[in-house]
Amino acid sequence: MNSRRAFLRQSVLAATALSASRVLGANETIRVGMIGLGGRGMGTAAWFAKIPGVEVAALCDVDSKVIERAKKVYPNATTATDLRKVIEDRTIDAVVVSTGNHWHVLASIWALQAGKDVYVEKPVSHNIWEGRKLVEAARKYDRIVQGGTQQRSDPLQEEIKAFLDGGAIGKMKYVRCNRYGERKSIGKLAAPLATPETVDYNLWLGPAQDLPMYREEFHYDWHWVWNTGNGELGNWGPHILDDLRNVVFRDKVKLPKRVIAGGGRFGWDDAGETPNTHFAYIDTGDVPVIMDVHNLPLKKGVKADDVYMRRRTKSFLVIECEGGYYTGGRGGGTAFDAAGKKVQAFSGDGGKSHAENFIEAMRNRKKETLKGEIEEIHYSSAWCHLGNISWRLGQNYNREQSEAAVKDFQPWNDVIADFHQHLQNNELDAGKLDIKLGAMLEIDAEKETFVGDTATAEALALLKREYRAGFEVPETV
Ligand SMILES: NC(=O)c1ccc[n+]([C@@H]2O[C@H](COP(=O)([O-])OP(=O)(O)OC[C@H]3O[C@@H](n4cnc5c(N)ncnc54)[C@H](O)[C@@H]3O)[C@@H](O)[C@H]2O)c1
Repeated sequence: MNSRRAFLRQSVLAATALSASRVLGANETIRVGMIGLGGRGMGTAAWFAKIPGVEVAALCDVDSKVIERAKKVYPNATTATDLRKVIEDRTIDAVVVSTGNHWHVLASIWALQAGKDVYVEKPVSHNIWEGRKLVEAARKYDRIVQGGTQQRSDPLQEEIKAFLDGGAIGKMKYVRCNRYGERKSIGKLAAPLATPETVDYNLWLGPAQDLPMYREEFHYDWHWVWNTGNGELGNWGPHILDDLRNVVFRDKVKLPKRVIAGGGRFGWDDAGETPNTHFAYIDTGDVPVIMDVHNLPLKKGVKADDVYMRRRTKSFLVIECEGGYYTGGRGGGTAFDAAGKKVQAFSGDGGKSHAENFIEAMRNRKKETLKGEIEEIHYSSAWCHLGNISWRLGQNYNREQSEAAVKDFQPWNDVIADFHQHLQNNELDAGKLDIKLGAMLEIDAEKETFVGDTATAEALALLKREYRAGFEVPETV
Protein backbone atom coordinates (compact mmCIF):
# COMPACT_ATOMS: atom_id res chain seq x y z
CA MET A 1 0.00 0.00 0.00
CA ASN A 2 1.47 3.41 -0.90
CA SER A 3 1.82 5.85 1.96
CA ARG A 4 -1.04 8.14 0.87
CA ARG A 5 -3.47 5.23 0.67
CA ALA A 6 -2.18 3.88 3.96
CA PHE A 7 -2.73 7.30 5.52
CA LEU A 8 -6.27 7.56 4.18
CA ARG A 9 -7.12 4.06 5.39
CA GLN A 10 -5.83 4.83 8.85
CA SER A 11 -7.70 8.15 8.96
CA VAL A 12 -10.96 6.41 8.08
CA LEU A 13 -10.41 3.83 10.82
CA ALA A 14 -9.52 6.51 13.34
CA ALA A 15 -12.63 8.51 12.41
CA THR A 16 -14.75 5.37 12.81
CA ALA A 17 -13.22 4.81 16.22
CA LEU A 18 -13.99 8.34 17.34
CA SER A 19 -17.53 8.31 16.05
CA ALA A 20 -18.28 4.96 17.70
CA SER A 21 -17.11 5.89 21.19
CA ARG A 22 -19.31 7.74 23.62
CA VAL A 23 -18.04 10.29 26.09
CA LEU A 24 -19.03 8.89 29.46
CA GLY A 25 -20.57 11.12 32.07
CA ALA A 26 -19.51 10.47 35.67
CA ASN A 27 -22.83 8.86 36.60
CA GLU A 28 -23.61 7.30 33.29
CA THR A 29 -24.16 3.54 33.16
CA ILE A 30 -21.33 1.68 31.46
CA ARG A 31 -22.63 -1.02 29.11
CA VAL A 32 -20.35 -4.02 28.82
CA GLY A 33 -20.45 -6.70 26.09
CA MET A 34 -19.20 -10.17 27.00
CA ILE A 35 -17.46 -12.06 24.17
CA GLY A 36 -16.99 -15.73 25.16
CA LEU A 37 -19.17 -17.08 27.96
CA GLY A 38 -17.49 -20.26 29.12
CA GLY A 39 -16.42 -20.74 32.72
CA ARG A 40 -14.31 -17.61 32.72
CA GLY A 41 -16.64 -15.32 30.79
CA MET A 42 -19.50 -16.11 33.18
CA GLY A 43 -17.20 -15.53 36.16
CA THR A 44 -16.07 -12.13 34.87
CA ALA A 45 -19.63 -11.16 33.91
CA ALA A 46 -20.61 -11.71 37.56
CA TRP A 47 -17.81 -9.36 38.62
CA PHE A 48 -19.01 -6.63 36.24
CA ALA A 49 -22.68 -7.11 37.10
CA LYS A 50 -21.95 -6.36 40.77
CA ILE A 51 -20.29 -2.99 40.08
CA PRO A 52 -22.66 -0.04 40.60
CA GLY A 53 -23.28 1.81 37.35
CA VAL A 54 -22.30 -1.14 35.15
CA GLU A 55 -24.60 -3.29 33.08
CA VAL A 56 -23.83 -6.61 31.39
CA ALA A 57 -25.63 -5.47 28.27
CA ALA A 58 -24.60 -7.90 25.52
CA LEU A 59 -23.88 -11.63 25.50
CA CYS A 60 -21.89 -13.13 22.66
CA ASP A 61 -20.79 -16.72 22.18
CA VAL A 62 -20.35 -18.84 19.07
CA ASP A 63 -22.25 -21.62 20.83
CA SER A 64 -26.01 -20.93 20.99
CA LYS A 65 -26.35 -23.38 23.88
CA VAL A 66 -23.88 -21.31 25.88
CA ILE A 67 -25.84 -18.13 25.08
CA GLU A 68 -29.08 -19.74 26.28
CA ARG A 69 -27.43 -20.54 29.61
CA ALA A 70 -26.07 -17.00 29.99
CA LYS A 71 -29.40 -15.42 29.00
CA LYS A 72 -31.01 -17.06 32.04
CA VAL A 73 -28.65 -15.05 34.24
CA TYR A 74 -28.80 -11.80 32.21
CA PRO A 75 -32.32 -11.79 30.67
CA ASN A 76 -32.17 -8.13 29.61
CA ALA A 77 -28.95 -8.40 27.63
CA THR A 78 -28.91 -8.60 23.84
CA THR A 79 -27.43 -11.75 22.30
CA ALA A 80 -25.18 -12.51 19.32
CA THR A 81 -23.13 -15.36 17.93
CA ASP A 82 -21.00 -13.01 15.80
CA LEU A 83 -18.73 -10.77 17.89
CA ARG A 84 -18.85 -8.09 15.19
CA LYS A 85 -22.48 -7.42 16.12
CA VAL A 86 -21.41 -6.46 19.65
CA ILE A 87 -18.43 -4.51 18.39
CA GLU A 88 -20.57 -2.50 15.95
CA ASP A 89 -23.20 -1.74 18.61
CA ARG A 90 -22.67 1.91 19.51
CA THR A 91 -24.48 1.57 22.80
CA ILE A 92 -21.76 -0.82 24.08
CA ASP A 93 -18.85 0.96 25.78
CA ALA A 94 -16.47 -1.92 26.48
CA VAL A 95 -16.01 -5.57 25.62
CA VAL A 96 -14.62 -8.39 27.71
CA VAL A 97 -12.79 -10.95 25.59
CA SER A 98 -12.83 -14.40 27.18
CA THR A 99 -12.76 -16.63 24.13
CA GLY A 100 -10.00 -19.15 23.47
CA ASN A 101 -6.51 -17.62 23.34
CA HIS A 102 -6.24 -17.61 19.52
CA TRP A 103 -9.01 -14.96 19.30
CA HIS A 104 -7.82 -12.59 22.04
CA VAL A 105 -5.82 -10.14 19.93
CA LEU A 106 -8.02 -9.97 16.84
CA ALA A 107 -11.25 -9.55 18.83
CA SER A 108 -9.58 -6.85 20.93
CA ILE A 109 -8.16 -4.97 17.92
CA TRP A 110 -11.54 -5.00 16.16
CA ALA A 111 -13.13 -3.60 19.32
CA LEU A 112 -10.46 -0.90 19.66
CA GLN A 113 -10.92 0.11 16.04
CA ALA A 114 -14.61 0.60 16.79
CA GLY A 115 -13.77 2.87 19.72
CA LYS A 116 -14.41 0.45 22.59
CA ASP A 117 -12.38 -0.13 25.73
CA VAL A 118 -11.27 -3.72 26.26
CA TYR A 119 -10.75 -6.16 29.12
CA VAL A 120 -8.93 -9.16 27.62
CA GLU A 121 -8.18 -12.44 29.31
CA LYS A 122 -4.74 -13.90 29.83
CA PRO A 123 -2.64 -14.78 27.95
CA VAL A 124 -3.48 -11.53 26.18
CA SER A 125 -1.97 -12.95 22.98
CA HIS A 126 -1.51 -16.28 21.26
CA ASN A 127 1.96 -15.25 20.06
CA ILE A 128 4.44 -12.45 20.77
CA TRP A 129 4.08 -10.60 17.46
CA GLU A 130 0.33 -10.15 17.76
CA GLY A 131 0.68 -9.13 21.42
CA ARG A 132 2.70 -6.13 20.25
CA LYS A 133 0.03 -5.33 17.61
CA LEU A 134 -2.55 -5.20 20.39
CA VAL A 135 -0.41 -2.73 22.34
CA GLU A 136 0.02 -0.64 19.18
CA ALA A 137 -3.75 -0.61 18.65
CA ALA A 138 -4.41 0.39 22.27
CA ARG A 139 -2.08 3.37 21.78
CA LYS A 140 -3.31 4.33 18.35
CA TYR A 141 -7.00 4.40 19.32
CA ASP A 142 -6.14 5.73 22.78
CA ARG A 143 -8.33 3.28 24.62
CA ILE A 144 -8.31 1.70 28.07
CA VAL A 145 -7.11 -1.93 27.82
CA GLN A 146 -6.84 -4.17 30.85
CA GLY A 147 -5.16 -7.62 30.77
CA GLY A 148 -6.96 -10.30 32.79
CA THR A 149 -4.18 -11.09 35.27
CA GLN A 150 -6.29 -10.15 38.26
CA GLN A 151 -3.71 -10.69 41.00
CA ARG A 152 -2.34 -7.26 40.01
CA SER A 153 -5.40 -5.82 41.74
CA ASP A 154 -4.72 -7.73 44.95
CA PRO A 155 -3.29 -5.39 47.64
CA LEU A 156 -1.16 -8.40 48.64
CA GLN A 157 1.32 -7.62 45.88
CA GLU A 158 2.18 -4.20 47.34
CA GLU A 159 2.58 -5.76 50.81
CA ILE A 160 5.05 -8.35 49.53
CA LYS A 161 7.04 -5.64 47.75
CA ALA A 162 7.21 -3.54 50.91
CA PHE A 163 8.25 -6.59 52.93
CA LEU A 164 11.04 -7.51 50.48
CA ASP A 165 12.24 -3.89 50.44
CA GLY A 166 12.28 -3.85 54.26
CA GLY A 167 15.16 -6.32 54.15
CA ALA A 168 13.87 -8.76 56.84
CA ILE A 169 14.99 -11.76 54.76
CA GLY A 170 17.82 -10.05 52.90
CA LYS A 171 18.72 -9.77 49.25
CA MET A 172 17.00 -11.90 46.63
CA LYS A 173 19.11 -14.75 45.22
CA TYR A 174 16.76 -16.42 42.76
CA VAL A 175 13.08 -17.22 42.25
CA ARG A 176 11.44 -20.56 41.67
CA CYS A 177 8.05 -20.33 39.93
CA ASN A 178 5.79 -23.36 40.27
CA ARG A 179 2.55 -24.64 38.94
CA TYR A 180 1.52 -28.10 40.07
CA GLY A 181 -2.08 -28.80 39.12
CA GLU A 182 -3.27 -32.24 38.21
CA ARG A 183 -5.06 -32.71 34.89
CA LYS A 184 -6.23 -35.72 32.94
CA SER A 185 -5.73 -37.06 29.42
CA ILE A 186 -7.99 -35.37 26.83
CA GLY A 187 -8.53 -38.66 24.98
CA LYS A 188 -7.75 -39.57 21.40
CA LEU A 189 -10.60 -40.29 18.99
CA ALA A 190 -10.16 -42.59 15.99
CA ALA A 191 -12.05 -40.16 13.72
CA PRO A 192 -12.09 -36.34 13.95
CA LEU A 193 -14.38 -34.81 16.58
CA ALA A 194 -17.66 -33.52 15.13
CA THR A 195 -18.34 -29.85 15.91
CA PRO A 196 -21.39 -29.51 18.20
CA GLU A 197 -24.42 -28.48 16.13
CA THR A 198 -24.93 -25.41 18.30
CA VAL A 199 -21.47 -23.99 17.43
CA ASP A 200 -20.65 -21.64 14.53
CA TYR A 201 -17.37 -23.35 13.68
CA ASN A 202 -16.08 -20.70 11.25
CA LEU A 203 -16.39 -18.02 13.94
CA TRP A 204 -15.00 -20.31 16.62
CA LEU A 205 -11.91 -20.95 14.45
CA GLY A 206 -11.35 -17.31 13.50
CA PRO A 207 -7.59 -16.79 13.09
CA ALA A 208 -6.75 -20.48 13.72
CA GLN A 209 -6.18 -23.08 11.01
CA ASP A 210 -8.93 -25.55 10.15
CA LEU A 211 -7.34 -28.76 11.47
CA PRO A 212 -9.07 -31.98 12.49
CA MET A 213 -9.39 -32.43 16.26
CA TYR A 214 -9.02 -35.81 17.90
CA ARG A 215 -9.78 -34.80 21.49
CA GLU A 216 -13.04 -35.83 23.14
CA GLU A 217 -14.31 -32.42 24.27
CA PHE A 218 -14.81 -29.45 21.96
CA HIS A 219 -14.68 -26.68 24.57
CA TYR A 220 -11.85 -25.89 27.00
CA ASP A 221 -9.38 -28.54 25.76
CA TRP A 222 -8.37 -26.22 22.89
CA HIS A 223 -5.71 -25.17 25.47
CA TRP A 224 -3.64 -28.29 24.72
CA VAL A 225 -3.08 -27.90 20.96
CA TRP A 226 -0.84 -25.16 19.55
CA ASN A 227 -3.36 -24.10 16.89
CA THR A 228 -5.63 -22.59 19.52
CA GLY A 229 -3.90 -22.78 22.90
CA ASN A 230 -0.58 -22.25 24.65
CA GLY A 231 -0.43 -25.24 27.00
CA GLU A 232 -0.17 -25.04 30.78
CA LEU A 233 2.77 -22.64 30.61
CA GLY A 234 0.51 -20.31 28.61
CA ASN A 235 -2.43 -20.95 30.91
CA TRP A 236 -1.24 -20.61 34.52
CA GLY A 237 2.10 -19.16 33.42
CA PRO A 238 0.70 -15.70 32.54
CA HIS A 239 -0.62 -15.32 36.10
CA ILE A 240 2.52 -16.60 37.79
CA LEU A 241 5.05 -14.79 35.63
CA ASP A 242 2.96 -11.64 35.84
CA ASP A 243 3.12 -11.84 39.66
CA LEU A 244 6.86 -12.34 39.28
CA ARG A 245 7.33 -9.40 36.92
CA ASN A 246 5.38 -7.14 39.24
CA VAL A 247 6.50 -8.27 42.71
CA VAL A 248 10.14 -9.13 42.02
CA PHE A 249 11.07 -7.01 38.99
CA ARG A 250 8.65 -4.07 39.48
CA ASP A 251 7.96 -4.25 35.73
CA LYS A 252 11.55 -3.17 34.98
CA VAL A 253 12.45 -6.40 33.18
CA LYS A 254 10.32 -6.30 30.05
CA LEU A 255 11.56 -9.45 28.33
CA PRO A 256 14.26 -11.86 29.55
CA LYS A 257 17.70 -12.08 27.95
CA ARG A 258 17.75 -15.87 27.51
CA VAL A 259 15.28 -18.73 28.00
CA ILE A 260 15.69 -22.50 27.80
CA ALA A 261 12.96 -25.07 28.46
CA GLY A 262 12.59 -28.84 28.60
CA GLY A 263 9.99 -31.50 29.32
CA GLY A 264 7.25 -33.26 27.39
CA ARG A 265 3.78 -34.76 27.46
CA PHE A 266 4.08 -37.98 29.40
CA GLY A 267 1.90 -40.75 30.75
CA TRP A 268 -1.08 -39.96 28.52
CA ASP A 269 -1.64 -41.29 25.01
CA ASP A 270 -3.94 -38.50 23.90
CA ALA A 271 -4.56 -35.85 21.24
CA GLY A 272 -2.81 -33.08 23.16
CA GLU A 273 0.42 -31.53 21.85
CA THR A 274 1.56 -29.25 24.66
CA PRO A 275 3.81 -30.44 27.52
CA ASN A 276 2.23 -31.63 30.76
CA THR A 277 5.67 -31.52 32.40
CA HIS A 278 7.67 -28.40 31.57
CA PHE A 279 10.68 -26.75 33.18
CA ALA A 280 12.53 -23.60 32.21
CA TYR A 281 15.44 -21.36 33.10
CA ILE A 282 14.91 -17.65 32.56
CA ASP A 283 17.93 -15.39 32.46
CA THR A 284 16.45 -12.02 33.31
CA GLY A 285 19.75 -10.12 33.45
CA ASP A 286 18.74 -9.57 37.11
CA VAL A 287 17.61 -12.15 39.72
CA PRO A 288 17.59 -15.54 37.91
CA VAL A 289 14.35 -17.50 37.57
CA ILE A 290 13.50 -21.17 37.18
CA MET A 291 10.04 -22.44 36.44
CA ASP A 292 8.46 -25.84 36.86
CA VAL A 293 4.98 -26.77 35.64
CA HIS A 294 3.29 -30.14 35.71
CA ASN A 295 -0.08 -31.86 35.44
CA LEU A 296 0.74 -35.40 36.56
CA PRO A 297 -0.02 -36.53 40.10
CA LEU A 298 2.69 -35.93 42.67
CA LYS A 299 2.60 -39.60 43.57
CA LYS A 300 -0.36 -41.83 44.15
CA GLY A 301 -1.07 -42.66 47.77
CA VAL A 302 1.62 -40.39 49.17
CA LYS A 303 0.97 -37.23 51.14
CA ALA A 304 1.98 -34.14 49.21
CA ASP A 305 4.42 -32.99 51.89
CA ASP A 306 6.45 -36.19 51.55
CA VAL A 307 6.83 -35.73 47.84
CA TYR A 308 7.51 -32.03 47.54
CA MET A 309 11.20 -31.32 47.49
CA ARG A 310 13.29 -28.23 47.86
CA ARG A 311 10.26 -26.05 48.46
CA ARG A 312 8.80 -27.48 45.31
CA THR A 313 5.37 -26.62 46.59
CA LYS A 314 2.06 -25.49 45.19
CA SER A 315 3.24 -21.90 45.59
CA PHE A 316 3.40 -19.76 42.50
CA LEU A 317 6.51 -17.94 43.68
CA VAL A 318 9.27 -19.10 45.97
CA ILE A 319 11.57 -16.10 46.37
CA GLU A 320 14.88 -17.35 47.78
CA CYS A 321 16.76 -14.65 49.69
CA GLU A 322 20.05 -14.52 51.58
CA GLY A 323 18.28 -14.62 54.94
CA GLY A 324 15.20 -16.76 54.23
CA TYR A 325 12.47 -17.07 51.64
CA TYR A 326 8.95 -16.00 50.69
CA THR A 327 6.53 -18.60 49.37
CA GLY A 328 3.03 -17.79 48.16
CA GLY A 329 0.35 -17.95 45.50
CA ARG A 330 -2.99 -16.33 44.66
CA GLY A 331 -4.37 -14.58 47.72
CA GLY A 332 -1.69 -15.37 50.30
CA GLY A 333 1.86 -16.31 51.28
CA THR A 334 4.36 -16.70 54.08
CA ALA A 335 7.92 -15.54 54.69
CA PHE A 336 10.41 -17.65 56.66
CA ASP A 337 13.87 -16.87 57.98
CA ALA A 338 16.96 -18.94 57.21
CA ALA A 339 16.23 -21.22 60.18
CA GLY A 340 12.75 -21.96 58.81
CA LYS A 341 10.93 -19.83 61.39
CA LYS A 342 7.85 -17.99 60.15
CA VAL A 343 8.57 -14.26 59.88
CA GLN A 344 5.31 -12.97 58.43
CA ALA A 345 2.07 -14.26 56.92
CA PHE A 346 0.30 -12.39 54.12
CA SER A 347 -3.26 -12.67 52.95
CA GLY A 348 -5.03 -11.03 50.04
CA ASP A 349 -8.25 -11.24 48.06
CA GLY A 350 -6.95 -12.90 44.88
CA GLY A 351 -7.59 -9.73 42.84
CA LYS A 352 -11.36 -9.55 42.88
CA SER A 353 -11.41 -5.78 42.24
CA HIS A 354 -9.72 -6.10 38.83
CA ALA A 355 -12.96 -5.44 36.92
CA GLU A 356 -13.69 -2.43 39.17
CA ASN A 357 -10.22 -1.08 38.47
CA PHE A 358 -10.97 -1.31 34.73
CA ILE A 359 -14.27 0.55 35.14
CA GLU A 360 -12.58 3.30 37.20
CA ALA A 361 -10.00 3.76 34.45
CA MET A 362 -12.79 3.88 31.85
CA ARG A 363 -14.30 6.77 33.76
CA ASN A 364 -11.08 8.70 34.49
CA ARG A 365 -9.56 7.88 31.03
CA LYS A 366 -6.09 7.44 32.58
CA LYS A 367 -4.44 4.22 31.48
CA GLU A 368 -1.81 4.75 34.20
CA THR A 369 -4.46 3.88 36.80
CA LEU A 370 -4.96 0.39 35.34
CA LYS A 371 -3.42 -2.41 37.40
CA GLY A 372 -3.04 -4.64 34.33
CA GLU A 373 -2.26 -2.11 31.58
CA ILE A 374 -2.00 -4.04 28.33
CA GLU A 375 1.68 -3.43 27.60
CA GLU A 376 2.80 -5.02 30.91
CA ILE A 377 0.52 -8.00 30.44
CA HIS A 378 1.77 -8.36 26.86
CA TYR A 379 5.26 -8.80 28.32
CA SER A 380 4.13 -11.30 30.97
CA SER A 381 2.31 -13.33 28.30
CA ALA A 382 5.42 -13.15 26.09
CA TRP A 383 7.57 -14.77 28.82
CA CYS A 384 5.27 -17.81 28.58
CA HIS A 385 5.45 -17.86 24.80
CA LEU A 386 9.26 -17.87 25.04
CA GLY A 387 9.21 -20.96 27.28
CA ASN A 388 6.91 -22.65 24.79
CA ILE A 389 9.03 -21.67 21.78
CA SER A 390 12.18 -23.07 23.37
CA TRP A 391 10.44 -26.39 24.10
CA ARG A 392 8.93 -26.58 20.60
CA LEU A 393 12.42 -26.22 19.12
CA GLY A 394 13.62 -29.01 21.41
CA GLN A 395 15.96 -31.83 20.55
CA ASN A 396 16.31 -35.22 22.23
CA TYR A 397 17.01 -34.73 25.90
CA ASN A 398 20.20 -35.83 27.55
CA ARG A 399 20.59 -35.20 31.29
CA GLU A 400 24.29 -34.23 31.22
CA GLN A 401 23.82 -31.88 28.30
CA SER A 402 20.82 -30.33 29.99
CA GLU A 403 22.73 -29.70 33.20
CA ALA A 404 25.57 -28.18 31.20
CA ALA A 405 23.20 -25.80 29.37
CA VAL A 406 23.14 -23.46 32.40
CA LYS A 407 26.50 -23.26 34.15
CA ASP A 408 27.22 -22.51 37.81
CA PHE A 409 23.62 -22.24 38.88
CA GLN A 410 22.74 -25.06 41.24
CA PRO A 411 18.94 -24.42 41.22
CA TRP A 412 18.91 -25.46 37.54
CA ASN A 413 20.46 -28.82 38.49
CA ASP A 414 17.88 -29.09 41.27
CA VAL A 415 15.04 -28.56 38.80
CA ILE A 416 16.42 -31.30 36.56
CA ALA A 417 16.85 -33.67 39.53
CA ASP A 418 13.30 -32.91 40.67
CA PHE A 419 12.04 -33.57 37.15
CA HIS A 420 13.60 -37.05 37.21
CA GLN A 421 12.24 -37.71 40.69
CA HIS A 422 8.80 -36.65 39.53
CA LEU A 423 8.91 -39.07 36.57
CA GLN A 424 9.93 -41.85 38.95
CA ASN A 425 7.10 -40.95 41.31
CA ASN A 426 4.79 -41.51 38.35
CA GLU A 427 6.50 -44.81 37.50
CA LEU A 428 7.74 -43.36 34.21
CA ASP A 429 11.13 -44.43 32.85
CA ALA A 430 13.02 -41.35 31.58
CA GLY A 431 15.02 -43.57 29.20
CA LYS A 432 11.87 -44.57 27.36
CA LEU A 433 10.17 -41.19 27.13
CA ASP A 434 10.22 -38.62 24.35
CA ILE A 435 11.81 -35.86 26.45
CA LYS A 436 12.89 -32.66 24.76
CA LEU A 437 15.34 -29.98 25.73
CA GLY A 438 14.93 -26.74 23.84
CA ALA A 439 17.26 -24.19 22.41
CA MET A 440 18.73 -21.47 24.67
CA LEU A 441 16.94 -18.59 23.03
CA GLU A 442 18.69 -15.23 22.99
CA ILE A 443 16.24 -12.38 23.01
CA ASP A 444 16.44 -8.79 21.78
CA ALA A 445 13.97 -7.25 24.21
CA GLU A 446 13.64 -3.98 22.29
CA LYS A 447 12.82 -5.63 18.99
CA GLU A 448 10.96 -8.56 20.57
CA THR A 449 12.85 -11.06 18.45
CA PHE A 450 15.66 -13.58 18.65
CA VAL A 451 19.34 -12.92 18.01
CA GLY A 452 22.49 -15.06 17.82
CA ASP A 453 22.66 -18.73 16.84
CA THR A 454 19.12 -19.52 17.88
CA ALA A 455 17.57 -16.86 15.66
CA THR A 456 16.82 -19.55 13.08
CA ALA A 457 13.99 -19.32 10.56
CA GLU A 458 12.14 -21.97 12.59
CA ALA A 459 12.47 -20.00 15.83
CA LEU A 460 11.52 -16.69 14.21
CA ALA A 461 8.44 -18.30 12.65
CA LEU A 462 7.18 -19.20 16.12
CA LEU A 463 7.03 -15.53 17.10
CA LYS A 464 3.96 -15.27 14.84
CA ARG A 465 1.37 -17.55 13.27
CA GLU A 466 -0.28 -18.17 9.89
CA TYR A 467 -3.68 -16.46 10.08
CA ARG A 468 -6.71 -17.96 8.37
CA ALA A 469 -7.99 -15.82 5.49
CA GLY A 470 -10.43 -13.16 6.64
CA PHE A 471 -9.16 -13.31 10.22
CA GLU A 472 -5.70 -11.78 9.89
CA VAL A 473 -4.28 -9.62 12.65
CA PRO A 474 -3.29 -6.51 10.65
CA GLU A 475 0.42 -5.69 10.20
CA THR A 476 -0.53 -2.03 10.58
CA VAL A 477 -3.27 -1.59 13.13
N1 LIG B 1 -8.11 -14.76 34.67
C1 LIG B 1 -8.40 -15.98 35.07
O1 LIG B 1 -8.32 -16.32 36.24
C2 LIG B 1 -8.86 -16.99 34.05
C3 LIG B 1 -9.46 -18.18 34.48
C4 LIG B 1 -9.90 -19.09 33.51
C5 LIG B 1 -9.72 -18.81 32.16
N2 LIG B 1 -9.14 -17.66 31.78
C6 LIG B 1 -8.96 -17.35 30.34
O2 LIG B 1 -10.25 -17.07 29.79
C7 LIG B 1 -10.37 -17.59 28.48
C8 LIG B 1 -11.59 -18.50 28.40
O3 LIG B 1 -11.39 -19.61 29.24
P1 LIG B 1 -12.58 -20.62 29.61
O4 LIG B 1 -12.03 -21.51 30.65
O5 LIG B 1 -13.83 -19.88 29.86
O6 LIG B 1 -12.69 -21.42 28.21
P2 LIG B 1 -13.95 -22.18 27.58
O7 LIG B 1 -13.47 -22.95 26.43
O8 LIG B 1 -14.69 -22.87 28.67
O9 LIG B 1 -14.90 -20.98 27.09
C9 LIG B 1 -14.63 -20.18 25.98
C10 LIG B 1 -15.96 -19.73 25.38
O10 LIG B 1 -15.70 -18.81 24.33
C11 LIG B 1 -16.57 -19.10 23.25
N3 LIG B 1 -15.97 -18.57 22.02
C12 LIG B 1 -14.91 -19.04 21.32
N4 LIG B 1 -14.65 -18.26 20.26
C13 LIG B 1 -15.57 -17.26 20.29
C14 LIG B 1 -15.83 -16.13 19.47
N5 LIG B 1 -15.08 -15.88 18.38
N6 LIG B 1 -16.85 -15.31 19.79
C15 LIG B 1 -17.63 -15.56 20.88
N7 LIG B 1 -17.43 -16.63 21.69
C16 LIG B 1 -16.41 -17.45 21.41
C17 LIG B 1 -16.71 -20.61 23.27
O11 LIG B 1 -17.85 -21.06 22.58
C18 LIG B 1 -16.76 -20.88 24.77
O12 LIG B 1 -18.10 -20.85 25.26
C19 LIG B 1 -9.04 -18.29 28.18
O13 LIG B 1 -8.24 -17.45 27.40
C20 LIG B 1 -8.41 -18.51 29.54
O14 LIG B 1 -7.01 -18.48 29.49
C21 LIG B 1 -8.72 -16.74 32.70
